[in-house]
Amino acid sequence: MLATTIPTSAAAGRLGAEGAFETLARVRELQAQGRDIVSLFVGEPDFDTPEHVKRAGIAGIEANQTHYTPSAGIAPFREAIASYASRFRGIAPAFGADEVVVSPGLKPMIWNVLCSLVDPGDEVVFADPAYPAYASCSAYLQAQPVRIPLYERYGFRLDLDELAAAVSDRTKVLILNSPHNPTGGVLTRADLETIAELAIRHDFTVVSDEIYCRNVYDADFFSIAAVPGMRERTVVLDGFSKAYAMTGWRLGYAIMPASLARVVALMGQNTYSCTATFVQSAGIAALEGPDEPVLAMVNEFRRRRDRIVAGLNALPGISCVVPPGAFYVFPNVTRITGDDRALASYLLEEAGVAALGGSSFGPAGAGYLRMSYATAMPLIEAALARMAQALPGFRP
Ligand SMILES: Cc1ncc(COP(=O)(O)O)c(C=O)c1O
Repeated sequence: MLATTIPTSAAAGRLGAEGAFETLARVRELQAQGRDIVSLFVGEPDFDTPEHVKRAGIAGIEANQTHYTPSAGIAPFREAIASYASRFRGIAPAFGADEVVVSPGLKPMIWNVLCSLVDPGDEVVFADPAYPAYASCSAYLQAQPVRIPLYERYGFRLDLDELAAAVSDRTKVLILNSPHNPTGGVLTRADLETIAELAIRHDFTVVSDEIYCRNVYDADFFSIAAVPGMRERTVVLDGFSKAYAMTGWRLGYAIMPASLARVVALMGQNTYSCTATFVQSAGIAALEGPDEPVLAMVNEFRRRRDRIVAGLNALPGISCVVPPGAFYVFPNVTRITGDDRALASYLLEEAGVAALGGSSFGPAGAGYLRMSYATAMPLIEAALARMAQALPGFRP
């Protein structure tokens, strides 16, 4: 083998990694050795994509929807998104298609939106813990990250006093994510109204990652874009991965004022060019077809949530609040150890249960695990039984 290295950029050195993909590599190694692993680490529904959505995708391929499209997305899909998103979020007057930009998954859109908004040194505020892409992209862009810790005692909603103290006229962007990955916390309408006042007072942009907006169990979803005065300073991020079990199709979108949408579409033109056409057709079917598959998934997730929370709370040393949204629980393991990653690694290696350490989502996630309950009930039962057996053997 040729022993040589190609020097990489300083910017690439600032990229962060996502714990889920790192754990995935280890899980695959163990499975290749014949180990039986119960996977609670990955953030994707175990359901199949709804039939009518699959058929629309297949029909799209058969109709030769296999060519380049405009970077912002095909017109009928942008119209369908504008109309669905306005209806779902109670936005009036409705969003226009020129405010919508489509992307191959939401993740590249997070990058393209932040790249369109943030210069080196700009303050970007986000929760701690948080979905890792926010910190990674902010670091790449040499932004100044401002992390707001989330507390279990507030149900992992933002502490509004801490937020108010952290934002100022220097704040460029506040990233919200409600329902929240990794904690399952959901901001209330009152929280969002207070945050909106801060955004208007300090004149910053809110990037609102609402990809779990269909995964709320105890209340109706509310978007900050629906607060008067906020639509003009909010970028709504959403996608099809979580609501429609379409993680592998790669389909997401953002909605924002048309002038910014043009810049974000240009960013898309410079990176992925466009989103697969037949996948966009499948997206139209998802938004305009029957909603029952989504509601059935949500009902099943609620049942699983209640079971896993009860099961975790019955384990010695673990306590777990009931998360109102997304499909994650974030159990507190501080009575067992402060080293959540060591515990996650022990559970994987010794018990064959794959979860993530909370600190892989930011320093304030230390002392917690993230577990996805978008996993069949028998697997959840198996994970709980294996943990009950293995935990007494853990030596911090
Ligand atoms: C908060 C959040 N935003 C964005 C994404 C990206 O979703 P995708 O790229 O699959 O559309 C995820 C996926 O886990 C997520 O949890």
